[in-house]
Order: sequence, then C-alpha cells, then structure tokens
Amino acid sequence: RRVGTFLWRATYSSVIVGVGLLAYNIYDGRHPVDQLPPDPSKKTLVILGSGWGAVSLLKKLDTENYNVAVVSPRNFFLFTPLLPSCTTGTIEHRSIMEPLRHILRHKKASVAFYEAECTDIDPVKRTITMRDNSEVKGDIAETSLPFDYLVIGVGAQNTTFGIPGVEENACFLKEIQDAQKIRTRIMDCIETATFKDQSPEERKRLLHMVVVGGGPTGVEFAGELQDFFEEDLRKWVPEIETDFHVSLVEALPNVLPMFSKELISYTEKTFKDEKIDIHTKTMVKKVTDKSIFAEVVKPDGSKEMIEMPYGLLVWATGNMPRNVVRNLMKKIPEQANSRRGLEVNEYLVVKGTEGIWAVGDCSVTKYAPTAQVATQEGAYLARLFNTMAKTQSLEEEVEYLEQLANGATAPEDKKTVTSEIEVKAKALRRTKRLMPFQYTHQGSLAYIGSDRAIADLTFGEGNNMSSSGQMTYLFWRSAYVSMVFSTRNKLLVIMDWLKVKMFGRDVSRE
Ligand code: FAD
Ligand code: NAI
Repeated sequence: RRVGTFLWRATYSSVIVGVGLLAYNIYDGRHPVDQLPPDPSKKTLVILGSGWGAVSLLKKLDTENYNVAVVSPRNFFLFTPLLPSCTTGTIEHRSIMEPLRHILRHKKASVAFYEAECTDIDPVKRTITMRDNSEVKGDIAETSLPFDYLVIGVGAQNTTFGIPGVEENACFLKEIQDAQKIRTRIMDCIETATFKDQSPEERKRLLHMVVVGGGPTGVEFAGELQDFFEEDLRKWVPEIETDFHVSLVEALPNVLPMFSKELISYTEKTFKDEKIDIHTKTMVKKVTDKSIFAEVVKPDGSKEMIEMPYGLLVWATGNMPRNVVRNLMKKIPEQANSRRGLEVNEYLVVKGTEGIWAVGDCSVTKYAPTAQVATQEGAYLARLFNTMAKTQSLEEEVEYLEQLANGATAPEDKKTVTSEIEVKAKALRRTKRLMPFQYTHQGSLAYIGSDRAIADLTFGEGNNMSSSGQMTYLFWRSAYVSMVFSTRNKLLVIMDWLKVKMFGRDVSRE
C-alpha cells in the first residue's frame, strides 16, 4: 500500500509540476521583457536566413555583444521534418511555422530584422545587397547593409539536374507554399478525375501520383499520401478506389541510401504492402505536362525508355546551391572547384574569406545536409561569437590592468594588480582555446506511412541501433514534438494529430 501511495503522490506531483511549467512557458512566451536597444558602436553581425542554422545561432547568441541584423525572405522559422505531413493536412501549416519576431523579441538585446532576399554579397567591400520581394513594396525595395561579420545560412534550392520540363511541371517540397500547392493539387486531380464523362485512361492518369527521388523527402511524402488515401480519400470519394495510385521513382538500386540495409528492406516491404509502387534503377530524363520519361536498367543490364503518365508529380531529388551562393563562389578563387556549395574550414569560415562563416545546406562539409547538422553548426557559431566577445572584453581588461600596474608606485598595489592580470590572462587563454566544429550524429529518423517509422540511432561512440515499426513511429512523434521550438507549436502539432484521429483529414480544395 505504501508503494501505491508513493506512486500516486509521485504522479500527482509530476502532473502539478508539468501543468505549472506549461503555464509558465505560455505566460513567458507571451510576455517578453524590455530589451537593450541596438548598439551601433559594436561590431555589426549580419545573419542571412531564418532556417535551422541561423535560428540555432540566434537562440544561443548573446546579442548584447554585437549589433545584430537578420535578413531573410521569410519572417518565420519552418520546422521542415513535419513538412511532408502538411501536404495532406495531417498537420496544418501554421503549426510548424514559428514567427521569427517571437524568437528575436526574447533576446536580451534587440536584433534588427529585414524581410528581404539577399541578392549579392561583396566580400571585399563587406556589404550585402538585399531586395524586398514581397507583394507590398515601399519607396525603397532594394538597399545595402554593411557588415563586420557575416553568417550565411540561406539553405539550398531544389535540384532538377537541368532535366527538361521539371521546373515547369513538377511540384517541389521545401517551403510551406510547396506543401500548400501539393495539397491543393491532390484534391484538384481527384475532382478532375471524377468529372462527368472523363475517359478511363484520363482518370487513371489524373489519379496517378508520381514521386521522383527515393531519398527521405520522397519516401516520407509517398507514405503520407498513401495514408491520406487509405484513411480518408477512399471513404469520401469511393469512385477513385481502384484508380488512385502512388509510385516512387528512384535512379539508384534502392531507396533511402543513408539508412541501414535492414531498414531499406523494411521500407520497401512496407511500401509493397501499402501498394505503393517502387521503381528503382529508373532515372527520369524528361518531363512533359502529362508524363515522365525514364530510363530503366533491366535485370540483364540493358536499358529501356518508359513513359509514365501522371496527374501529380512531386520532384525530390536533393539540393543545389542558391544563386546568391553561386555568385559569391565566383568571386572567391578558393571556391572555384566547389560545385555543391561554400567550402568552409573546420571553424566554418568560408574558405578564401575573413569574417564570413557559412552554416547548414549552403555549405559543403563531410556531413549530410540535414537539420541536425545545421543546428549543431549554428550552436557552434553562437559559442564562437560569444567567446570572441568575451575574449575582446578580457583583452581590454588585461590592457587596462597592465597600465595600472605600470603606473603603480607602491609594491603592494603592483603585486595585487599583477596577480589580477594573471587570473585574467589565464581566463583569456581558456576562452581563446575554441575547438574546431565537431558534429555528433544522433541518428536518422523517417516516417514511412501506415503508422510506421524507421530509425537508425547512435549512442555514444559508434554504438548503433536500428528500429522500425509502430513503436518507432511513437518515438518519431515524441522526438519531433520535443524538437518543435515553442510550447504554442508543440500544442498545435499535438492538436492536429488528435483532430485527424477524431475527424479525419479535410478533403476540401483550397
Ligand atoms: P533552411 O532551413 O532551408 O533555411 C534557409 C533560410 O534561408 C530560410 O529562412 C530561407 O528563407 C532563407 N533564404 C533563402 N534564400 C535567401 C537569401 N537569398 N537571402 C537571405 N535568406 C535566404 N533534416 C533532418 O535532420 N531531419 C529531418 O527529419 C528532415 N526532414 C526534412 C523534410 C523535408 C521535407 C525537407 C525539405 C528537409 C528535411 N530535412 C531534415 C533537411 C533540413 O530541413 C535541412 O537540412 C535544413 O533545413 C537546413 O538548414 P539551413 O538553415 O541550412 O537551411
Ligand atoms: P536526397 O539527395 O537524399 O535523395 C534524392 C534521391 O533522388 C537520390 O536517391 C537520387 O538517386 C534520386 N534521383 C536523383 N535524380 C534522379 C532522377 N533523375 N530520377 C530518379 N531519381 C533521381 O534528397 P532529399 O530526399 O530531398 O533530401 C535532401 C536532404 O535532406 C538529405 O540530406 C536528407 O538526408 C535530408 N532529409 C532528411 C530527412 C529525415 O531525416 N527524415 C527527411 C527529408 C530530408
């Protein structure tokens, strides 16, 4: 009975503490305290982007040490791991958008934000050019901004490998508008397929949903789409039951090359059970408004060109550098041989520059372009900038103390000041010893549909564990909810999941 009472009390106390913390977080989130004003006499740090790398830097940066300005064409942070869920309405898009203004308003010293696209970086004059690309423009829509230090965190854009027809006909999945476009397009295909007198062939084409690229983006989207069909569409639009069909096209011999072999097999088997067709060794060469044309490598090694009619085409074949990054690379001789993005050294400094750093998908390192890497890089740079500021203030203190020591006449005073100099000099040596960036891989997770996920997890030094199935799916959900930044968005995501469980997904076309 005593154990029972203890457990009951422990549960009761944790619920009280949990509710208290939640209430405090909600209150704290809505009531930012006054900030220190910007100080133009400090060094100007310009941060480009509001994604994983830039926001991770901003969260840990002591903004009172610099005159900080952020430039990004979107005034929010996007939680990309849940973006595939927005394409079918499992998650509403606003649930994974965190207003940047909230993040910046909670910093100790205020940070300037300009909603604009950086169009040019001049590493010699140390200025950037930025353009307001939004619909509403004032008298000034383009201007420049000088910097002492620059952090480039502009991410990457979708690659099409220059394959004809992709840009004009395919949907991509990188930004929130992409997910909204796909959601509308799915319902448009369905309503058009069920239009009066539609021929059976045209119906089949419109209901064929083709995903090109068997990386995690393509796999997660295909899984979400099949869920939508199984759980909602077939119920509300029974006429499409026999013709609705998802195909995943991949050039390599298997999907998800970054996952372990057993997880690849598990995914391929799950897709087979879910009736998603996987076409491996199939490289798309051309796209028209109604079909893709792909080269298939047959088991005997011979090649064949096939045509695949589609209603919706989602293109997810990886990243390439943005124009602003490509232009900067052309200006720096040390970047001449780089194709995939900005080459950086072990301190994330852009090679061939001084005082310019790059984080995340716009840079080239030995790590994969993931949110996990970008976050750790951003946090590393925050430590670096905080340390630089501390170093500078310690150097100033040592200089001042040295002057005092030189001017001191009484031996007692001289001794006191000298010992203080030693303490400060020791602290200075410690802060100057900043280690190069080192990435700690915590594992890879992906949702594959029908309430299943796969996980390659890493513990400590080289201990790996693979797991898959419905328990992994629960882990996937709890891991991602815990990673969502604000309490507000955590609650929104949980409410979206509950809403879909209770009422299903919305099948209206926006
Ligand atoms: P981003 O997060 O893309 O941010 C770039 C920022 O720069 C944006 O704010 C953008 O508006 C801004 N910008 C763009 N151009 C300019 C310009 N010219 N001037 C100024 N600002 C500019 N990774 C994982 O680790 N786990 C996952 O589960 C996962 N899931 C994903 C799901 C999807 C659908 C996608 C597309 C990616 C996923 N990723 C995942 C990868 C992850 O999102 C990226 O690696 C990560 O976003 C990179 O962070 P970043 O800061 O470099 O770029
Ligand atoms: P990716 O680069 O991982 O995969 C693209 C795939 O497209 C490759 O397998 C490639 O072989 C294939 N491909 C290229 N051209 C093709 C063609 N013409 N025809 C057919 N197939 C073709 O790209 P993805 O999935 O967009 O991911 C980008 C980055 O984001 C990766 O680093 C990934 O790890 C990360 N990411 C991570 C997620 C997670 O951890 N859950 C989810 C989504 C993305």
